[in-house]
Parts: sequence; C-alpha cells; structure tokens
Amino acid sequence: MFGGRRRDQHGGSGSTPAAVRLDSVRKTYGKGDSAVEALRGVDIALDYGSFTAVMGPSGSGKSTFLQCSAGLDQPTTGAVILDGVDLTGMTEVQLTELRRERVGFIFQSFNLLPALTVEQNVTLPMKLAGRKIDRNRVADVIRRVGLEQRRTHLPGELSGGQQQRVAIARALVSEPAVVFADEPTGALDTRTALEVLDLMRESVLVSGQTIVMVTHDPVAASHADSVIFLIDGQIIGQLQHPTAEAVAERMTHLTAMVERPQRSFSLSQQGTDRRGRGGNY
Ligand SMILES: Nc1ncnc2c1ncn2[C@@H]1O[C@H](COP(=O)(O)OP(=O)(O)OP(=O)(O)O)[C@@H](O)[C@H]1O
Ligand SMILES: [Mg+2]
Repeated sequence: MFGGRRRDQHGGSGSTPAAVRLDSVRKTYGKGDSAVEALRGVDIALDYGSFTAVMGPSGSGKSTFLQCSAGLDQPTTGAVILDGVDLTGMTEVQLTELRRERVGFIFQSFNLLPALTVEQNVTLPMKLAGRKIDRNRVADVIRRVGLEQRRTHLPGELSGGQQQRVAIARALVSEPAVVFADEPTGALDTRTALEVLDLMRESVLVSGQTIVMVTHDPVAASHADSVIFLIDGQIIGQLQHPTAEAVAERMTHLTAMVERPQRSFSLSQQGTDRRGRGGNY
C-alpha cells in the first residue's frame, strides 16, 4: 500500500512527483503594523526518499516552513502539495486526517504519553487513525531502534535518547509519506544525538523514508542529503552532500549577514560569494 513511495520506484528524477512541494508559499502572522512575514515566497520540491535539513538563524522561518509543509498550519498564499495532495483550502478536520495518514513527527521534546508503554506509544497514531496494526511491523521497528528489551517500559523509565528512539519508531511505523522533525537532537548529548541521526539516516537508506529536519547543528545537518538555508523567510541557498564543516562555514556567513543588515545581501546577487569563492548563497 505504501510501496509507491519508495525511492527505488521514484528514483528522484525531476519528472517524478515530489513528496512535498511548496509553490510560492508566503505566511504572514498578524495584521497591519504588527504583521510578521515569516515566509516570503518559498518554492521547493523534495523528492521521495530524500533527507533534507533546514537551517537558518533564529526567526528565519524554519518552524513555520515545517508547519506549513506538514499541514499543521496553512500558508497565507501559495500552495503546499504533500504526497500528491494539494492542502489548499482544506479544513482542520481534513488536515488532521491527512496528517494521521501521511505524516510522521519527531519533536525536540519527544512528546510521548507518559502513561503508555513504549509499544503503546509507537502504535498510538495508527490506533487513532483507525488503522489495522501490523504486529510484526511494530516489533520490527521497535527492534530497529534497539528497544526490544524495553517494549513494556514507560517513557519515565527511559533515558532521553531512548525516548527519542521511541518517538522515531512511532514516526516510522506507519511508513508515512514524510517524517518532519523539528530539532530532534536538540535535547540530547552528542553521542546519543549521533545514534538518533544514524537511525533516521538508516530509515532513508533502507526504507526510502522521506525526512525533513529542522536543526541548528551542522553535524546533524551533515547526516542529510541536502541542506536548505533560510533567511528572513526566503530560501537563499542549498548545499548537496553537506559536510559539517561546509554547513558550519555557511551558517557563520549567513549569521554575519543577518547581524550586519546594513551590509546585507541582495537576493539578486545569490550565487555571488563576496569572498570570491563561488559559493551559491
Ligand atoms: N504564531 C506567531 N505569531 C506571530 N509571529 C510569529 C508566530 N510564529 C512565528 N512568528 C514569527 O515568524 C518568524 C519566523 O518564526 P519561526 O518560528 O518560523 O522561526 P525559526 O526559524 O523556527 O526560529 P528558531 O530557530 O528560533 O526556532 C519570527 O519572526 C517569529 O517571531
Ligand atoms: Mg523554530
């Protein structure tokens, strides 16, 4: 039933449908003088089976991008097409249903239900969606995240890294079209963060899972296939096959541009690195 989403069938070429597409997405919070333009014309298509990191200075619109892409919020103008479905004009009820069917979430704060066991937390979204629970698949996913000995434990009995692994299993178990992660390693120590990132990476490589991950951490971003850089609500660059060093260098440059607005960038000059190294900011 979900086989059509796999990387091997969609190949990632330009002619195939995207897992998520944003067309001219703008998002304005508030009205009049207090209006904030959080997204100012975002166009992007993310292939099935891709792992994309979203980076940018605080307030650049990363969470807004994620929320609009995942159907948690609606753009002010423009369109989001998720797994082939245009979200424009959908009601809250329709969006909720769509998210249950096609989207997985991983949050910084894990968001597990404390009174439910590991296994119950993992299966909860499928139960809410009224889906038949494939016990073999549940057991397989729990084993893949290394928690088979902890199936009947409560979240409070687990370490932070283990709790995030439960959240990953919960996000992956229904094979959603896209997993959206907002700072998934933000609350974890370096070693545990790497384990979590390896798991996410493995789900992309082994199962063709599509992942979109907001992060502030260049090391986390280097686990993705590509990094999108946001500034002031606009995508101003993309880095393929990122290394942590390359991401960190670009972030330093972007942050400096934001902190020195008087010498700021011109979007018409994208592709011109002022240091003359041919970057593509
Ligand atoms: N509900 C809201 N109402 C009004 N303004 C908002 C709202 N949510 C976000 N904003 C504003 O929109 C802009 C983008 O916010 P967003 O949360 O997307 O940034 P971010 O890149 O995720 O930042 P951070 O790295 O700090 O999490 C900011 O200027 C923020 O103040
Ligand atoms: Mg944010």
